[in-house]
Amino acid sequence: MKKEFLFNAVFVVVSCALTAVFAQTNPATMKAVVAHEFGGPEVLKYEDVARPEPKENEVLVRVIAAGVNPVDTYVRSGKFGTPTLPVIPGRDIAGIVEQIGPGATKLKKGDAVYGNVNNGGYAEYAVAAEKNIALKPASLDFIQAAAVPVAARTAWNALVETAHLGVGQTVLIQGGSGGVGSFAIQIAKLRGAKVYATASTANQDLLRELGADVAIDYTKQKFEDVVKNVDVVLEAASREILDRDYAVVKKDGFLVSIIGPADTAKAQQYGIQAPPLAAAGWSSLPELTKLFDAKKLRVVVTQTLRLSEARKAQEEVGTHHTRGKIVLKVADEPK
Ligand SMILES: NC(=O)c1ccc[n+]([C@@H]2O[C@H](COP(=O)([O-])OP(=O)(O)OC[C@H]3O[C@@H](n4cnc5c(N)ncnc54)[C@H](OP(=O)(O)O)[C@@H]3O)[C@@H](O)[C@H]2O)c1
Repeated sequence: MKKEFLFNAVFVVVSCALTAVFAQTNPATMKAVVAHEFGGPEVLKYEDVARPEPKENEVLVRVIAAGVNPVDTYVRSGKFGTPTLPVIPGRDIAGIVEQIGPGATKLKKGDAVYGNVNNGGYAEYAVAAEKNIALKPASLDFIQAAAVPVAARTAWNALVETAHLGVGQTVLIQGGSGGVGSFAIQIAKLRGAKVYATASTANQDLLRELGADVAIDYTKQKFEDVVKNVDVVLEAASREILDRDYAVVKKDGFLVSIIGPADTAKAQQYGIQAPPLAAAGWSSLPELTKLFDAKKLRVVVTQTLRLSEARKAQEEVGTHHTRGKIVLKVADEPK
């Protein structure tokens, strides 16, 4: 009996050691955060998986940092797109190009890049379509760069490509202290607009630091009492707020909602435009890169967690009260 116990114990120790050595030495495996079923943050498991291979027009990126977005929580819970299980969430990455797939010609091995992946970002390696990746702004470290793609591109798309916000116009940014809102305030100021922005009491300082001309504390004041006849509203907060936005947009002005489609019949009643986001690829990334490197845009990262803490990161993002961005650190910054 004692002998059998000893044998079993030795067997377990040896197989654990072999698994660990295999995972460390076999380049075909990597650490990743995986959902094997849809559900709450508890379905996320930190484990060893096969490293992906870049296919046609793709590159393999060694991920240094991965940004966390609300959409990652929708993917995890099965409410976004049609991901097949198991799924590795994560759309924003910054890292180093490790391998070039067939047909990819723009980037080369060793390039420092940032951009978008179609899930798969919460991992040591991720494949990305080459067209969705750009050279990382030299002025940003990898953690900062990973906070940019989805949020900054959405803000740019909404204000510039959809609402054509211009000099002398007025804009209301609902949810100004979040991922999208924190870039939207800065982009609106760069476009020469007067900016109203909303957030809770704790985030009023951030709204002002980012350039908002008028910061509105939604816990103390109704935005309708302050904002009237604006050229553009960017709705990045909630459906309940969206219902109230129509009334503060001037005739022919734009209501751009990123939290779900606006009601076009209601928009028509108010005589305003409420189009979906303009179809845009990732071509705005190089434009954004220039603005970061010219120090005209900055990134607000309020929390950096380890890749193994992705569950905690998603719990926090799932509250919809993130200040700026949360980023997962996957590896040390390269020297
Ligand atoms: N369609 C797209 O392509 C697209 C792309 C990106 C994001 N989105 C969606 O857009 C929304 C915002 O994304 P995000 O990444 O910016 O989210 P986020 O980082 O969670 O930010 C949400 C912000 O909303 C603020 N907020 C919450 N309740 C509010 C209220 N009643 N009034 C005003 N502000 C309020 C929060 O500030 P306080 O903590 O101060 O309340 C928080 O800073 C999410 O629903 C996301 O899914 C859509």
